[in-house]
Amino acid sequence: MKTVVVYKSISGFTKKYAEWISEELRADLLRLEKINISILLKYDIIIYGGSLHAVGISGINIIKNNLDKLRDKNIIIFTTGASLPKESIVSEVKDSNFSVEEQKQMQFYYFRGGFDFNKLNLINKILMTLLKWKIKLKRHKTPDEKGMLAAYSKPMDFTKKKNIGGLLDYVRSLR
Ligand SMILES: Cc1cc2nc3c(=O)[nH]c(=O)nc-3n(C[C@H](O)[C@H](O)[C@H](O)COP(=O)(O)O)c2cc1C
Repeated sequence: MKTVVVYKSISGFTKKYAEWISEELRADLLRLEKINISILLKYDIIIYGGSLHAVGISGINIIKNNLDKLRDKNIIIFTTGASLPKESIVSEVKDSNFSVEEQKQMQFYYFRGGFDFNKLNLINKILMTLLKWKIKLKRHKTPDEKGMLAAYSKPMDFTKKKNIGGLLDYVRSLR
């Protein structure tokens, strides 16, 4: 079955997962910026990866706005974030981005990415500086928030190839 991995990545963490997945599955690898829906329609299995931005999955509208056209396709979504892969976070992200009906049309995975302030563009630098101050001003910080603060001065990279195992098994079961 023709398989494609499409990704949107700002600082490279989602890109790294997308590359690993496409290598393992021998699938085409395309940046979101280079495609449109007619390109996606040429594939049977569509894997989309985008990073988490305040619970939203970046670039996900290419899938969400075309779910009708993609009805007969196998859709797999993965997102990367700085947060630990807790079940509560994964459900929150899934439920904030997709309705219950939409979730039935896809498989969803969360992989821990990382955080590198210096690689962000200006808008994201501003947003993340606001978040930094919001966390700094909190009297009681969670361990995640403390980790996040530390990451502003020292980039963190939690990407691990083994994280994609479940996604690979699922896609292989379709072929
Ligand atoms: C503006 C902004 C908002 C973010 N919001 C979240 C978030 O809500 N949850 C999370 O886990 N990570 C969040 N992150 C961290 C990114 O999702 C994380 O660094 C991701 O791995 C980046 O992937 P990329 O380099 O492929 O873009 C945010 C980052 C930015 C810049």
